[in-house]
Amino acid sequence: MSNKMTRRQWLSQSGIALGGTALASYWSMSHTAFASEQETSHAPVRMMYNENPYGPSETARKAMRKAFDEANLYTFSRGEAYTKLRSLIAQQVGLTPNHIAISAGSTEILRAAALITALKGGEVLAPHPTFLSLTRYAETMSVKVHWVPVDEDLQFDLPAIRKKITKNVKLIYLVNPNNPTGTLTPYDKLRPFCEEMAKKALVFVDEAYHEYVTDPQYRSMVELVREGHNVMVSRTASKIHGLAGLRVGFGIADPKLIRYMRMRLTGTNNIIGLNAALASYQDEDFQKLCRQKNNEAKEYVYKLFTETGRRYLPSHTNFVFFHTGKPIEEFQDAMEKQGVLVGRPFPPYLDWCRLSMTKPEWMGKFGAAFQKVMG
Ligand SMILES: Cc1ncc(COP(=O)(O)O)c(C=O)c1O
Repeated sequence: MSNKMTRRQWLSQSGIALGGTALASYWSMSHTAFASEQETSHAPVRMMYNENPYGPSETARKAMRKAFDEANLYTFSRGEAYTKLRSLIAQQVGLTPNHIAISAGSTEILRAAALITALKGGEVLAPHPTFLSLTRYAETMSVKVHWVPVDEDLQFDLPAIRKKITKNVKLIYLVNPNNPTGTLTPYDKLRPFCEEMAKKALVFVDEAYHEYVTDPQYRSMVELVREGHNVMVSRTASKIHGLAGLRVGFGIADPKLIRYMRMRLTGTNNIIGLNAALASYQDEDFQKLCRQKNNEAKEYVYKLFTETGRRYLPSHTNFVFFHTGKPIEEFQDAMEKQGVLVGRPFPPYLDWCRLSMTKPEWMGKFGAAFQKVMG
């Protein structure tokens, strides 16, 4: 049995309430003195939400501790943390701060994009399956969403999307690489497609998994924003930066559009999240480590699926979509009983599973459970 203690166990055994000097002494202990909840043998392995098992980075943790003392400050857009982060992102993508909106997770940007489409009385065009935050929110405002199924390789069918465009479509939503499939639309196809479509509607490219991509041909669609096309790109601190619980995301577009959108955002950022992101976006080593470990974990499942004859899609993200050959809900329940939490159903692919990667050393638990459940 492991003699490591999780933070929660330590807190409950020592009877400590989170406050005052107790909190300070808790934080002053190195976080490495504790095992994460996952490292204890009884905790289920989380392979369902595309989280980063390594995050936050040490540099982000340090910035967060410092930001505790600034929690009395508002995070207005003229404030130091917001301004610094906005400038940093602008500099990293080769644009000005006015091209950047910071939001409460990129979900807020996705929803705001749906909102501005609704305000124009427009419709949305998107491939299917894909990430649903934008389209679901659009539907709550009675915005019509036109879906275009992926092709037989589960890649975006760009010619079919092109055929579906009408004058009512005001937003085309493209996730690259896509969730839940993990597929990448190649640069030489995506770039001309976006350029052409941007003459007819706002092209929204969701690059939540941008930092995980290692394909040398890959390039961000931010270059189209730089060239003045009607394109918006979103990014997030939730994935490789491991800050999902702090809710920091970005919209990148023409300053006029960013201004229009920012006036309609309803969330605000917190000081801990802004400072954590500011540190993490400068921490190249941490991102490199996470990319490497993620690739190791993917190699593990690719080998397992190849050996057991399971179809899977080579992934450009931190999850792998694979064919279970049995109803996903049944697979999910059986895996949960073995202590492994896997992704939800993605209709119409109801016998496929989206499996988020975890640390390579925990992948064995998935492998053992998979062998048991698959027989
Ligand atoms: C493609 C995509 N976009 C956006 C998000 C939302 O992330 P967040 O709101 O945490 O930035 C996710 C989360 O899983 C995602 O997969």
